[in-house]
Amino acid sequence: MKHQENITLVFATRNRHKIEEISKMLVTHQMEDLLLMQGLDAIGSQEEIPETHETIIENAIEKATYIAEKYQVNCFAEDSGLEVDALDGAPGVHSAHYAGPHRDDDENLDLVLTRMEGLKNRSARYRTVIALYLDGSIHTFEGTVEGKITDARIGSGGFGYDPIFIPDGYDTTFGVLSPEIKNKISHRYVATQKFLTFLRGKFGT
Ligand code: IMP
Repeated sequence: MKHQENITLVFATRNRHKIEEISKMLVTHQMEDLLLMQGLDAIGSQEEIPETHETIIENAIEKATYIAEKYQVNCFAEDSGLEVDALDGAPGVHSAHYAGPHRDDDENLDLVLTRMEGLKNRSARYRTVIALYLDGSIHTFEGTVEGKITDARIGSGGFGYDPIFIPDGYDTTFGVLSPEIKNKISHRYVATQKFLTFLRGKFGT
């Protein structure tokens, strides 16, 4: 596919799983020559990026704005989480550090299973917001995938809560389903599609 111009954006994350998933989506959408994605290393950023808000959208905007303004770059950030209805939306914005500040995926997942023990309502969703900081303006793109929480972990693929999340329409978890399937239906896929459609409209042919 030919493009009029390309755009370089820093991806303000240190989560290698997010980078891997979005990189694969760029290839699937034939966008890897339109959007050149730079890591934080390329701009010399080593600090912890602040996430001080109680909503996913505010944190995504905060992360993108922090990096864009500090390093004078166009940039995007992603904030995401698992919302469990029977836990009043927890772990939600606290998904990465639900069981403590050391951000341990296994402990987080076990805590959800423990708090869900015996509960009948297993419905949940992953939510993500991508915030794009482009030439001083912010644009946001949201995606969700509905599903349910298992009674125990199934599979070990993916990351975070994937071994306990069964997306609607499937009979097993993201811990078992292939990355190809996850990347076609996930919250991150839905948000990335909106994000890429926006970039294509602005910069593509
Ligand atoms: P963030 O880095 O503050 O956005 O935290 C995101 C957290 O939400 C991750 O550390 C995971 O715990 C959880 N999460 C977000 N997306 C996914 C996913 O695709 N699979 C599993 N867990 C996810």
